Amino acid sequence: MSAEQKQNKPDFTQGVAASSVADGAMVVGRVGKADVLLTRQGGEWFAVGAHCTHYRGPLAKGLIVGDTIRCPLHHACFNLRTGEAVQAPAFDPIACWQVEHEGDQVFVRNKFVAPAPAASAVSPAAPESIVIVGGGAAGFAAAEMLRREGYEGPVTMISADQDPPVDRPNLSKDYLSGEAKDDWIPLWPRTLYAERHIDLQLGRRVTAIDTAARTVSIDDGSARSFGALLIATGADPVRLPIPGADSAEVLYLRTYADSRAIVERARTARRVVVAGASFIGLEVSAALRARNIEVEVVAPDQLPLDRIMGADVGRLIKSVHEAHGVRFHLGQTVTAIAGRAVSLSGGGTLDADFVVMGVGVRPAIALAEAAGLTLDRGIAVDQYLETSAPGVFAAGDIARWPDPHTGENVRIEHWVVAQRQGQVAARNMLGRRERFDAVPFFWSRQYDLAIKYVGHAERWDAIDIDGSLDARNCSLTYSRAGQRLAVATIARDRESLAAEAEFERGHRSA
Ligand SMILES: Cc1cc2nc3c(=O)[nH]c(=O)nc-3n(C[C@H](O)[C@H](O)[C@H](O)COP(=O)(O)OP(=O)(O)OC[C@H]3O[C@@H](n4cnc5c(N)ncnc54)[C@H](O)[C@@H]3O)c2cc1C
Ligand code: FES
Repeated sequence: MSAEQKQNKPDFTQGVAASSVADGAMVVGRVGKADVLLTRQGGEWFAVGAHCTHYRGPLAKGLIVGDTIRCPLHHACFNLRTGEAVQAPAFDPIACWQVEHEGDQVFVRNKFVAPAPAASAVSPAAPESIVIVGGGAAGFAAAEMLRREGYEGPVTMISADQDPPVDRPNLSKDYLSGEAKDDWIPLWPRTLYAERHIDLQLGRRVTAIDTAARTVSIDDGSARSFGALLIATGADPVRLPIPGADSAEVLYLRTYADSRAIVERARTARRVVVAGASFIGLEVSAALRARNIEVEVVAPDQLPLDRIMGADVGRLIKSVHEAHGVRFHLGQTVTAIAGRAVSLSGGGTLDADFVVMGVGVRPAIALAEAAGLTLDRGIAVDQYLETSAPGVFAAGDIARWPDPHTGENVRIEHWVVAQRQGQVAARNMLGRRERFDAVPFFWSRQYDLAIKYVGHAERWDAIDIDGSLDARNCSLTYSRAGQRLAVATIARDRESLAAEAEFERGHRSA
């Protein structure tokens, strides 16, 4: 922000006329060097930090729902009274200031810090120790929440990754395109795990869970006992059973190391084949185009994202990629890879420096299966995210839970869903009985096109479009038998937040 723009913001320490702030309005001003958002909600006034603690989203463009404020970029949710980041993807609180009234003037001068929950607030029924299997979205969010809730018992997080938990969505976007630096990627600096007494075991794989003895076995031959366990092992990329699928020319993208490997190969590459036209394949294509690499996308679908978002969005996405120089080979699959030669089911051959396989993922449920937990194309959990074994919870890409909105059991592979499940599972491991009823949300960004999606529509019989896809300003409502199931938006962030809030009200009142 320029000095001039900063100058134009009202200085809240000098006071503003209360009558100049309409009920429900959000005004951004300054308190010292800080940007502060002032809002009046009925008879109450709130003053909080103006930027989201996730990626500094402008909260004034977000939405206030009850006593929370929601970020327009990726839907983090903060409590206006305490600043707490009550729902991921943000974890750190926003600052709060007191609002003082003098006549018709309101002044914002003094910051306050809401007290952290006291350890004594943790239920005496909380387990003696907690083990988390997985250092991804759900595992990290759970560990952070356990400490935020004041839990003081031992917390161990065991992760097969070599790296501490990372911002996985970035691995196919800014990091891959070269815009984000390495220091953007870790969710926390390494030292913070030690500071919060989280025993982070990296590069270690849990090989067995004994739900009766309440122990996990680790691949270094050791074992850990647990009072409560969270399984958050995520998903593994599908490997096609085709010749050459395991060759050095084929790269997969799940981990930070995978993304670094693609970046390394991209430095000298001129031509890449991307197998798969779903979100990963498309985001990888956009990132590689930003590096000026020729990209050929091969996928069995007739249009990208058709099955997830419908043909109209599919056509838009295809045209956006083509305008950036991507060539599509649709209705075909990769059948073999031999050195630079990539064979297609249609009979053609493409030349490529390397191939990125983005043909889907499978939930990593082998551990749960061997432990005898109930499975349902994932790990079956109840509304509290507890598995068929008491005290053993599951969250993230592996969990299939009863979705209160559709009434169906669903398993969803979204970053924010996994994090919010980790947060709810953490509180339930501490003895709460909090049902998981967050509305699923995901976003994707390809070039300058950002899509936000709330709700969940695996099948639909109608899509209503408001606005224009060509103008890239619209919302699409997916319904089945007259029931609104999901809303996708382009350039309408506040509508996306409003749809999320409406879905929330729908199932919380049901
Ligand atoms: C490149 C990329 C980009 C994405 N972009 C988006 C996006 O823009 N928006 C969106 O909504 N979603 C996105 N997703 C999906 C999102 O990242 C996942 O839904 C989310 O990470 C799932 O979280 P999780 O905790 O279930 O699993 P993960 O985050 O995958 O974590 C699983 C963890 O379990 C560990 N593990 C597995 N097995 C074992 C074992 N036996 N022992 C110990 N540890 C084990 C793994 O090492 C890992 O640490 C993206 C995914 C990828 C790969
Ligand atoms: S910047 Fe606010 S949620 Fe991402």
